[in-house]
This record gives sequence, structure tokens and C-alpha cells, in this order.
Amino acid sequence: MMIKVMSLLLFWCFTSQTVSLIIPRRYESIINFGNSISDTGNYLLMGAPAYPAVGKLPYGETFFKHPTGRFSDGRLIVDFIAEAFDLPSYLPPYLGVANGSHVRNNGVNFAVAGATALDPEFFYAQNIGWTLWTNSSLNVQLGWFKKFKSSLCHTKHDCEEYFRKTLFLVGEIGGNDYNFQFLAGATIDQIRPIVPLVVGAIVNATSMLIEEGATELVVPGNFPLGCSVVYLALVESTNQSDYDPTNGCLKAYNSFSEYHNEHLKRELQVLREKYPNARIIYADYYGAAIPLYLAPKLYGFYGGPRIACCGGGGPYNYDLSAWCGDPGSTACENPSAFVNWDGIHFTEAAYRYIAQGVLCGPHASPPLMP
Ligand SMILES: *[C@@H]1O[C@H](CO)[C@@H](O)[C@H](O)[C@H]1NC(C)=O
Ligand SMILES: *[C@@H]1O[C@H](CO)[C@@H](O)[C@H](O)[C@H]1NC(C)=O
Ligand SMILES: *[C@@H]1O[C@H](CO)[C@@H](O)[C@H](O)[C@H]1NC(C)=O
Ligand SMILES: *[C@@H]1O[C@H](CO)[C@@H](O)[C@H](O)[C@H]1NC(C)=O
Repeated sequence: MMIKVMSLLLFWCFTSQTVSLIIPRRYESIINFGNSISDTGNYLLMGAPAYPAVGKLPYGETFFKHPTGRFSDGRLIVDFIAEAFDLPSYLPPYLGVANGSHVRNNGVNFAVAGATALDPEFFYAQNIGWTLWTNSSLNVQLGWFKKFKSSLCHTKHDCEEYFRKTLFLVGEIGGNDYNFQFLAGATIDQIRPIVPLVVGAIVNATSMLIEEGATELVVPGNFPLGCSVVYLALVESTNQSDYDPTNGCLKAYNSFSEYHNEHLKRELQVLREKYPNARIIYADYYGAAIPLYLAPKLYGFYGGPRIACCGGGGPYNYDLSAWCGDPGSTACENPSAFVNWDGIHFTEAAYRYIAQGVLCGPHASPPLMP
């Protein structure tokens, strides 16, 4: 078992820029919370009301060869983490698991596409004029976990032993709290004041998991929003100085992501001091993704990092009237040459690259595999 794990990791970490000879921690299961960045099927099991196309090809075409509810052509970061730790299978969506004892030696995924870190009441109280994709916010997912816990482990001692070998992934979550508002026209100055609330919700969830027995936790930050195709297409600017000349991304939205991430890192440090026995790892998804925009061809992304592989046309291949999978959309021939899959989410190839940066360094702090 160990040898197999080691060889897998060597494969993993040899293929990233830095080679590290490290003995990994051996996790026997993963418990994940989040949104469409890591949902492996919950939203589809709910009927995918706001985005039924996720239940159709080309979603899933590259790896699974059929739609699984993942918002990509193939595997997600959480799937690559499950592979790196040699888990028996990819994480099943919670809503498809009838009995927790069946997934004890593997883990379970509570993430739901569209989920926010803050409760839906927060958004509805502001009379936003639109509905969220889902009401299954982080607190709802935590509630599911609390209920499910009794079928994963039994006595206090058993749960302690079990959770010592379980990796908890808390996110990425929080991005939607901003996306929904920015894409409905809110300005950065209007949204900046909610950053401490969003971070507070993530940190509260993390501390609640520690109180429930988690000792190994990864909390990812936000991606560079200003590089996301949906932002580039919908908040396009005619002023060239709004774009970062090194990567072509919208400077103000990238600064906003960094602002969120700095807040999150600060609050996680407070949490580390409060819970010295827990290992709380910050995963820098921003830093792991940015090289894809700086030097896409270096990593094999010949399709251009700021054009969606699958979409309804236009300069970014993103059109609100024909999302990927809708009539009128087309998918590129070779998704692995593209960073962006459907305007909002990454391709499997980009997720693999980001996962490597987090697993093998340098984009996890402390490193995920010391
Ligand atoms: C869950 O599975 C275990 C082991 O297979 C079994 O003992 C238990 O009765 C099951 N629980 C339910 C609620 O089906
Ligand atoms: C979420 O809750 C609101 C208010 O209770 C409701 O109107 C809406 O239909 C719910 N949305 C979903 C996707 O379930
Ligand atoms: C986080 O928890 C604290 C203490 O329980 C509470 O006062 C605060 O409202 C919570 N914040 C969020 C955003 O849920
Ligand atoms: C372009 O944006 C810069 C700063 O982002 C600003 O100083 C400048 O006035 C803008 N130019 C125009 C033509 O709006």
C-alpha cells in the first residue's frame, strides 16, 4: 500500500516544476464541502434546476465519458487529490449515498454547485431580485455532515481515530457569494464590505469541523476572478489600463480575490493559534492558477487561457444565451489545450495543474504532503 502511494506521489510530484521527495501523510478518506468547483454530483441529483446542461455531454466527455454532475470535461481538483492519496474511488456525492458505512474508507462529498458560504437569507434580505442556484449553503452542508457523522464512525474514540486519517476540504467556497452579485452588476466597492462576513462563515465552518473532531483541514482561497472568462466577457472594459499586461486579466477583480485571500489567511492564523492540535492548511488556488495565464503555452494550453472551450461564441466563446451544453453552443476539439471549460469552470487539464501545485507545492501552506 505504502509503496503504491509513494510511487503515485513520485509520479505526481515529478511532473510538477519542483521535485520533492516527501513521505506523505496517509489519508484514508476525504470529506469535502464546497460549490461547483468540487461538486461531484449533488447538484445534478437535485435536478440541476438552474443548469440542466451539466447532466448532458459534453460535460464529462474527457475522462468519465458521460456526465457525472461535475462542471468540467473530466476530473476536478478533489478527484486529483483523491488519486494522489490512493483512495479506493472518487468521492461520491452525499445525496447519492444511502449508508455512511459504505463510504467510510473513501469519504463523501457535500459540495453543491452554486453554494454560497453565507446563508441564502443574507442574499434574499437584500432584495437581490434573482434567486440563488441552490439554498444548500455551507451551513446546510455542515448540517448534512453532522447527521451523517454517526454512520461514518461510532464511539468518541472511533471518531477520533477515523478523523485523524481523514482530510477535510473546506472549499473553495465563497466565490459564489461574490460572483452572483458582481455578475448582476454590483461594484467592487459595494461588495468589499461583505468579505469579512464571507471569510467569517468559512472560518466558522472550519472551527465547527475541528470541534466535531477534524484535525487535518485544507481551506482553499479564491481563484483570480479577473482571469475568469465570465468576468472578462461580462465586465469587459474599453480601457486597456484595466487589464494587467502580464496576464491579460482584469486587475481590479484579481485584487479583489487577493483581498479575500489575505483576509482568509489572517483568520486561519487566528484559528491555528486557537486549535494548536489541528493542522490547518491554506491552499493558494490563486497562486496555483495564475501561471496558466502568464505562460499558458509553457504548460500546453495552446487554445488560449481566456477563451472558453465550450460555449456559444463571441470573443471569449461565452454567450449568456447559449451556455455550454445548450443548443447553439459548441465544444472545442481538444479541451486539454484550454484552461477554461465553460466560461466559469476550468478544464480537467487546468484542474490537474492546479491540484499539482497544491499537492506537490508550492501552493499549500503548510505543504499538503510534508
Ligand atoms: C448500513 O450498512 C451497515 C453495514 O453494511 C449495516 O450494518 C447497517 O444496517 C446499514 N444501515 C442502514 C440504515 O441501512
Ligand atoms: C431557496 O429558498 C427560497 C426562499 O425560501 C425559495 O424561494 C427558492 O425557491 C429556493 N431555491 C431553491 C433553488 O431551492
Ligand atoms: C461566526 O460565529 C460567530 C460566533 O459563533 C458568530 O457571532 C458569527 O455571526 C458567525 N459568522 C458568520 C458569518 O456566520
Ligand atoms: C483608464 O483607467 C485608468 C485607471 O484604471 C484611469 O486613470 C484612466 O483615466 C482611464 N482612462 C479612460 C479613458 O477612462
